[in-house]
Amino acid sequence: NILEAAHENDIELEGTLFFHFILSFGLFLSKYSGACECSLACSTCHVIVMDTEYYNKLEEPTDEENDMLDLAFALTETSRLGCQVI
Ligand code: FES
Repeated sequence: NILEAAHENDIELEGTLFFHFILSFGLFLSKYSGACECSLACSTCHVIVMDTEYYNKLEEPTDEENDMLDLAFALTETSRLGCQVI
């Protein structure tokens, strides 16, 4: 998933509330940390998918993901939780 890919590439955005990192495949990461280690108990892995074509190819978010997304900072129409996007 996106969260693990960020970790593997030493992308560490923990502690900021500002968007500040753009991945080459069109994702805009915000406030990244993955505090709950992918257990859908936080929204710190919030990502905004900038490429709507790519966003539309993703599986629909589950109700549990949507519940956590509602708590995310600066939620958008193409927001997802990075730990749930494969
Ligand atoms: Fe907590 Fe993704 S790391 S929901």
